[in-house]
Order: sequence, then structure tokens, then C-alpha cells
Amino acid sequence: MSEQKRKRILSGMQPSGKLHLGNYFGALKNWVDLQDDFECFFFIADWHALSSLYEDPRRIKEFSFEVAVDWLSAGLDPEKCTLFLQSKIPEHAELHLILSMMVPVPWLERNPTYKEKQDEIKKVDMSTYGFLGYPVLQTADIVLYRADFVPVGIDQAPHLELSREIVRRFHHLYKKNVFIEPGAKISDIPKLNGLDGRKMSKSYDNAIFLSDNEKEVAKKVKQMLTDPARARRDDPGDPEVCNLYPFHKIYSPQSMQEEVAEGCRTAKIGCGDCKNMLTQTMLESMGPIMERRSEISKKPKEVEEIIAEGTKRAQLVATSTLDRVKKAMKLK
Ligand code: TRP
Ligand code: SF4
Repeated sequence: MSEQKRKRILSGMQPSGKLHLGNYFGALKNWVDLQDDFECFFFIADWHALSSLYEDPRRIKEFSFEVAVDWLSAGLDPEKCTLFLQSKIPEHAELHLILSMMVPVPWLERNPTYKEKQDEIKKVDMSTYGFLGYPVLQTADIVLYRADFVPVGIDQAPHLELSREIVRRFHHLYKKNVFIEPGAKISDIPKLNGLDGRKMSKSYDNAIFLSDNEKEVAKKVKQMLTDPARARRDDPGDPEVCNLYPFHKIYSPQSMQEEVAEGCRTAKIGCGDCKNMLTQTMLESMGPIMERRSEISKKPKEVEEIIAEGTKRAQLVATSTLDRVKKAMKLK
């Protein structure tokens, strides 16, 4: 009996530097879990990165390499999934251009992240044509591979809805269903903040990176903000308002979580004890990632080869979809 064809997943990540635990639990860990059950395509969205790095694009190449190393360290397996670089496949740009001709500008202007990001990113002028069209390029990325699902956090759901609308518009205009309307695969993302309690972000200098070594992790855990009510060792605290406790929920076994919560509320344990316990379970869990990284770091050429190999495979699908697009539009 033939094995039933696996559904296809596609997702991408902008190369904006080394990945931190927010990126890991927000996306990458889900990808690693998905690779066993789906046909997966994951790509480095280096053209998307230009939307905020166009003034200084020199670092994009180095960032892309770092992302690839982070992916492999985290456990993405090139035997199971196709890993590639967006800018090596010109079909992304070609389909983006074609779709841009039929996407009404108001659809893009009402996209909530368009305004939010403009308010958030002040260092570069984000009122560009390219940034407005960000979701169109993203749509091209997805539909080029006829992906069934895109794993996204809930905040990205409006983007995906827009992709579906664009697909329907294309099908309506050319009377041929060449694409698949991508579904969102929404995963719940544990809420982890940075060391200082703000959202974990490279630019806030409050992140724990996937590439941090044991010493760095231990040092950062020590720096972490806890329940401010525990100014002194014998002040009781509340794990539910503590910035560190969510990390225990992710990394520590149930029994330790209970022990910590109870010890915190009764001031039986101090934040220092609590942090030591966390450091231990965190390092245990990050161990395999650290080991893979040290292996991979010895052979950077292999990383390049893995991406080149994946790009070749992705190219085949991209070529065939673009061919269908042009035929549907009678351009070919
Ligand atoms: N917007 C995503 C990010 O910020 C990257 C991305 C580009 C993407 N194209 C995509 C994600 C297609 C999913 C599907 O990281
Ligand atoms: Fe947070 Fe642990 Fe300190 Fe309680 S004991 S406030 S949970 S760090």
C-alpha cells in the first residue's frame, strides 16, 4: 500500500541575527516537532530582512549563516526537511511582482502589523513600498510551494488571511486554481519574557541566545528579574507574577515546579535557590543543542552545502508552480 502523501508545511524566518529563546519557543521548536509528520520547507527570508536592513545590508549574509547554524543546532534535520535561502530562488521575486499587480493597496494598508512595525522601528524609515508589500512577498513564498499549512503564532494570523484572499483573487481572475489556500497552523507559544521582564529581544539586550554557553546561561539566569515583592530573602513571593517562573514551567519537571512555587510563597527558598534549580534544568535541556552546535561549528562548509542542496530541491517546485501561474494567465 502506498503511504498517504504527507501534507506540506512551509515557513520562513528573517535573518536578523542569532536566535534567542523567544525565537526558539515562538517558532523553531515547533518546526523541529513538525518535521516528523509533514513534508517541510523552511527558508531564510533574506529578502524580507532587507525591509528593515536596507541601509546596511552587509550583515544579512552573515546573519543568514548564523540562522542556518541555529536551525541545525536546534535539531532541524536536512534528511527530513528542505532548508533553503529565499534569494537564491528568483521565482519568489517574480511571483511577488505578478501578485503585486493584482493586490489592492488598501488590503495592505489595513494590515495591523504594517502600522505597528512602523511605530516600533524608528531607526529606519519603514514607510517604503517594499515594506507595504511585505505580505505580498510572504504570500509568494508560501504559494510557490503549494503549502497546505504555515506554522505561525497568533500575531501572524492576519498575514495568512491576506494570503488566502490573494489566492482567491488570483483564482477568480484567471479561472484556474493553481495555488493551495494555505491554512494557519497556530501553535500556542509559551509566554517568556527577557531577563528584565520586557519582551525578549536582541535590541533590548535582555535575551538568552540559543548559542549562549553554559556560563553565559548561568550568568543570565542570575540577572533575571524576579517578583519585586521579594526584596529580602524572608519576604514571601508569588510565582504567578514572577518573571522567572515561566521558565520553570517550560524547563523543569512538575515536581520541581510545585516545590518552587510552594517554597516561594512561604519564603522557604530564596530566589537564588530557585535560580540555581532553573539553571540546572535549563542546561540539561539545552545540552543536546549545545552539543550539535559544537559539532556543526567544526564544519561550516557542510552548512553551506545543506542549504545549497535544499535550495536545489525547492527550486524544482518553484519552477513548476511559476510555470502553471504563467500558463493560467496566458503569459506562456
Ligand atoms: N515574516 C516572517 C518573519 O518575520 C518571515 C517570513 C517570510 C515567513 N515569508 C514567510 C513566514 C512565509 C512564514 C511564511 O520571520
Ligand atoms: Fe520567582 Fe523563584 Fe524568586 Fe519565587 S523564588 S520570586 S518563583 S525566582
